[in-house]
Amino acid sequence: MGKNIAIDGPAGAGKSTIARMLAGQLNYIYVDTGAMYRAMALYMIEQKVDVTDMQAVTGACEDIVIDIQYRNGAQQVILNGRNVNDYIRTEEVSQMSSRISALSVVRDKLLHLQRSLADASDVIMDGRDIGTHVLPNADVKIYLTASSHVRALRRYKELTEKGTVCTLESIEQEIIERDQRDMSRSIAPLKQAEDAVLVDTSDMNIDEVVSYLNQLIRQSI
Ligand code: DC
Repeated sequence: MGKNIAIDGPAGAGKSTIARMLAGQLNYIYVDTGAMYRAMALYMIEQKVDVTDMQAVTGACEDIVIDIQYRNGAQQVILNGRNVNDYIRTEEVSQMSSRISALSVVRDKLLHLQRSLADASDVIMDGRDIGTHVLPNADVKIYLTASSHVRALRRYKELTEKGTVCTLESIEQEIIERDQRDMSRSIAPLKQAEDAVLVDTSDMNIDEVVSYLNQLIRQSI
């Protein structure tokens, strides 16, 4: 059993950037569970699976094989033998991943993979239900959040820097919608674990958050 650090929080709170940096500093493996849901969502979109039809979703889940590999320390998601890292960050995939992640057949499929990765190595795993459900005995649990406006501003900056045309209002609306869905679903909803440390990053920059969490983790492990 490796050492396990769980980072949960809403969309755009900076979980993946921060978890990746911490993993590098602490020599842990970073596991991005959102990317696994995104790969499953990509499959549903590409195969035009009707995600309101449980039989169709169950059939699709049986046909999906998700594998995780690392290239120069960066997680690669392999969907049925194909590296899909470059295709899972679109808004369409974001919304679809949030929709299908409410379904138990989808969550059950990924739970085993997530736990086996945490068993095998020291991991920093980020997602929505890591501290509450996937790794309830994690050594350190962090709940990372920021106001929806600040999260939207960060995402807007990131997208416009890449040349994507979008508006701040639509991004904030999408973030609010996704949070509501992720927090209100009946199975493994996004919520702060009782023993998680709450970190609101609204008024902190990335370096401040990373240095604070690095210290917190070193003190706790
Ligand atoms: O972290 P992310 O934005 O890449 O996650 C995409 C979606 O996947 C998110 O809206 C909800 C779902 N998800 C989840 O339900 N549980 C996780 N542990 C990680 C992600």
